[in-house]
Amino acid sequence: MASTSASNAPLPPPLDGLGLNAEGYSQTDSSGFVGQTRAREACGVIVDLIKSRKFSGRALLLVGAPGTGKTALALAVSHELGVKVPFCPMVGSEVYSTEVKKTEVLAEVFRRAIGLRIKETKEVYEGEVTELTPTESENPLSGYGKTVSHVTVGLKTVKGTKQLRLDPSIYEAILKEKIVVGDVIYIEANTGAVKRVGRSDAYASSYDLESETYVPLPKGDVHKKKELVQDVTLGDLDAANARPQGGQDIMSVMGSLVRSGRTEVTEKLRKEVNKVVKGYVDQGVAEVIPGVVFIDEVHMLDIECFTFLNALLEDSMAPTVIFATNRGNSTVRGTVDIVSPHGIPVDLLDRCMIVRTEQYTVAQIIRVIELRATVEGLTMGEGVPQKLAEAGENSSLRYALQLLTPASILAKLAGRDTIELEDIGEMGELFLDAKTSAGLISKGKQSADVTMQ
Ligand SMILES: Nc1ncnc2c1ncn2[C@@H]1O[C@H](COP(=O)(O)OP(=O)(O)OP(=O)(O)O)[C@@H](O)[C@H]1O
Ligand SMILES: [Mg+2]
Repeated sequence: MASTSASNAPLPPPLDGLGLNAEGYSQTDSSGFVGQTRAREACGVIVDLIKSRKFSGRALLLVGAPGTGKTALALAVSHELGVKVPFCPMVGSEVYSTEVKKTEVLAEVFRRAIGLRIKETKEVYEGEVTELTPTESENPLSGYGKTVSHVTVGLKTVKGTKQLRLDPSIYEAILKEKIVVGDVIYIEANTGAVKRVGRSDAYASSYDLESETYVPLPKGDVHKKKELVQDVTLGDLDAANARPQGGQDIMSVMGSLVRSGRTEVTEKLRKEVNKVVKGYVDQGVAEVIPGVVFIDEVHMLDIECFTFLNALLEDSMAPTVIFATNRGNSTVRGTVDIVSPHGIPVDLLDRCMIVRTEQYTVAQIIRVIELRATVEGLTMGEGVPQKLAEAGENSSLRYALQLLTPASILAKLAGRDTIELEDIGEMGELFLDAKTSAGLISKGKQSADVTMQ
C-alpha cells in the first residue's frame, strides 16, 4: 500500500486486510481485526464491487462512534485492493487553509490517489560492481587541485564482465547512491541515471536483522534492454511539471512535457498531463491504478466542497472514495438550515453505500488490547486487560489502547517488565478519559482539583 499522504492525521497501525475467507465471511481474529463482523463483510462486498469496476460514481460511508475502527476499516479496504494502490487520507477540516482554495485541496488529493505504473524498455548496463576507480587529472582551470576526469566501472553478470569508462557526472550519481563494490546496479544508457538494485547475494551475511536487500547476480549481458517499472501518481506528474526543475527521476518519461516556468498546478496543466498519460496508456506503456481517497470527519466539509465532490466522483478517472463520520443528523456546513443525515447533502448521500461500525463489548476490547500488547511487545499482569477493557467500555476503545504505552512506561520506572494493575490505577489518576473530564468541568470543579485527589 503506497501511502502518499500529505496529511498529518495519525493513522492506526495497519491491520492486515479485512480478514474474510474466500466466501466473504469474516474469520475471527484473523488479520488482527476483532469483531465488526457485519461491517467487515460489507466492506468485503465493496472491495469486490471496486475490483469488478462496478463502484464508479459511488462512495463508501463509514458511520460509527469514535474509536470503533472506521479508519482501520478504510485502511483494510485499501490493503485488500493491492499493495501498490495509493492510499490518500485526509481530514475534512484540512480543506480550510488560507493559501489554497478548498476545492483545490480536494482536487489535489484525488490526483494523488490515481497511480500510474509505467513500463518502459530501456537500454541499460547492469551488473555487480567489481571495480570503481575514479581517475583524477590536474584541473586546467584553477591551476591547482584535481578533478575527476572519468570513472572506470567494472560490471559483472552471470554471462560476463564489462569495463566501462564513464563521465564524471555519473561518478557523482554513484557517490550519491552510496554505491560500493559488490552492489548490483544499472546505468541507463541514454540518461546516465544510476540505480542501485541491492547488494549482490554473494556478499550476504548471516545476520537476520539487516535492512539490506540481497539480489542475485544479473543474468544475460551487461549491456542489454531491460523492462523498468516505475510507480507514480497523477499528483506527482502535476507537481513535477509545475516545477520543471524538481522530480527529475520520475520525470524521465514525461520529460518532453511542457517546460515553461509554471509554479502552480492549474486545471489546464492537469488536462495536459492527462492527455500525455492517455497517450501512454493507449500505447500500452502505462497502466492506471486507481487508489483510495479517505476523507475522515467528512461532516467538516461544506456545501461547496460537497458539490465539487459530486463532480469529482463523476470523473472517468476517479479513485475509490471512502468517507467516515461519527455525526448523526446535523446542519450541512455553509448552509443555514439544511439539516441532513451525517451533515452530508442528500444528493451526495444518494451515492453513498453506508456501513455502520458497532460499539465493542468488553470481551472484544480485551482481545484488541491483547493483540496490540503482543504487537508492541508488552506483557500484562493478571487482570490488567480486564481493567483496561472496563476503562475502554466507559469511554472508547482508543482510550483503552492509549493507556497501554504510558502504563508500560510506569511499569519500567518501577523496574518491571510486566504492566501491573497498580500502573493502570496510577494512570487513571494522571489522565482522564473524555467523559470524566467533561463531567467534572460541568460540575464546576477545576481540573487542578481532580489530579490532586
Ligand atoms: N476491530 C478491531 N480490531 C482490532 N483493532 C481495532 C479494531 N477496531 C479498532 N481498532 C484499533 O482501535 C484504534 C481506533 O480505531 P480507529 O482509529 O480506526 O477508530 P475510528 O472509528 O476511526 O475513530 P475516530 O472516529 O475517532 O476517528 C486503532 O488503533 C485501531 O487499530
Ligand atoms: Mg478515525
